[in-house]
Amino acid sequence: KSLKEYNTFGIDVKARKFISVETVEELKELLKNSYASELFVLGGGSNMLLTGDIEKTVVHINLEGIRIKEDLEDEVLVEAMAGENWHQFVLFCLDHGFGGLENLSLIPGNVGTAPIQNIGAYGVEIKDTFEECTALDVQTLELKKFSLEDCRFGYRDSIFKNSEKGRYIITQVTFRLTKNRHLLHTDYGSIGEYLAEEGIENPGIRDVSNAVISIRRSKLPDPKKIGNSGSFFKNPVISNQQITELQEIYPEMPFYKVDEEHVKVPAGWLIDRAGLKGYREGDAGVHTKQALVLVNYGNATGQEILRLSEKVQERVYDLFKVKLQPEVNIF
Ligand code: EPU
Repeated sequence: KSLKEYNTFGIDVKARKFISVETVEELKELLKNSYASELFVLGGGSNMLLTGDIEKTVVHINLEGIRIKEDLEDEVLVEAMAGENWHQFVLFCLDHGFGGLENLSLIPGNVGTAPIQNIGAYGVEIKDTFEECTALDVQTLELKKFSLEDCRFGYRDSIFKNSEKGRYIITQVTFRLTKNRHLLHTDYGSIGEYLAEEGIENPGIRDVSNAVISIRRSKLPDPKKIGNSGSFFKNPVISNQQITELQEIYPEMPFYKVDEEHVKVPAGWLIDRAGLKGYREGDAGVHTKQALVLVNYGNATGQEILRLSEKVQERVYDLFKVKLQPEVNIF
C-alpha cells in the first residue's frame, strides 16, 4: 500500500502491510500477535520523512472520540483519542469556548503524537495545558498513565522521544482548559499586529486562533497543496560567546535567551541568510516564505529531501559554525 496519503510530506513509499486500528482492544490484540519490533506506528504522519519502503507492518492509529471528562468551576478536563486530527480538536475546544489551545491552531498531525514532541507555536506549548495521557506499553500490553511531570517535556521534546522511545503508544490525551477566565498569549509579535489591523481591542480565544491561522497561512505551506512537515530543523541553542562572535559579523541576527549561558537562534534566519530560501533541486525545495520548512513540490523522494537537508546543514555550518538538528523523524 502506498503511504503517500499518510505522510504530510507526500512521499510515495510503500508499506508491505497496513493495518488501521479503531479501538484500543484491536491495538492490544494486534500487539499480542506480533512483536513490537515488527510494527511501525503511524499517527498523523506530519512529523516524519520516509526515505524508503517500510518492511514492517504499518499500524495506523485511528482511535477516535472527544469527551468532556470533568466539568469544573473555571476549568474543564477534555480528553481526546490519539487518532483525532489536532486542528479539529482545537476547533472543538473553540466551539465549546474552552481556552488554552488557540495558539496551537492549524498544526498538522494528530492528538496522539502531539505530546511526543511537545508541539508548540506562538508562545504556547502543549505542556502548558497538558493534564495527562494514557499509553499502551507495547511489552506488557498494559495501559499506563503519564502525568505532566512523567513526560518531562522540553523544547520539541519528551520522554517518548528519549528514554521511552518505542515503548509506548499514546492512546488518549487529557487537557486542562479554561472556561471563562482565559489566559491569552498575544505577545508574539505578529498576533498583536493582526489584532490591531482587524481593530480587535478585546480579543477572545477565537480571535487569537484566527490570528494564528492567518499568520500560519501566510508563511507555512498547506500540506494538502505542497508536501511538508513544518519546521524541518529545531532552532539551535548556542553559547553566549558564540552569539557575541556571530553578532560582530551579523549584528541583525535574532536570538532569544534560553538560560544564563545560552541563546536560541532561528534556524529559518540562518538558512535564509545562507541564501537558500526558495532553493530547489528537482521537486525538493526550501520553502519560499519560511526557510525552515523543506517542501516536496510533487514527486520528490525521501532521499532527495534528505540530501537537500544535508546540503542545508552543511551550508549553515560552513557559514555560521552552527549545527542544525532535524526536528522531523527520519525513517
Ligand atoms: N526568519 C527569517 N527567514 C525565514 C524564516 C524565519 O529571517 O525564512 C526569521 C523571522 O523573521 C524571525 C525568526 O526567523 O525573526 C523566527 O521565525 P518564525 O517566527 O517564523 O518562527 P521559527 O522560529 O522559524 C518556530 C517553530 C514553528 C512555529 C513558529 C511560531 C521551531 C523549530 N519552529 O519557527 O513551528 O510555528 O516558531 O511559533 O521551533 C513546526 O514545528 O513545525 C513549526 C512550524
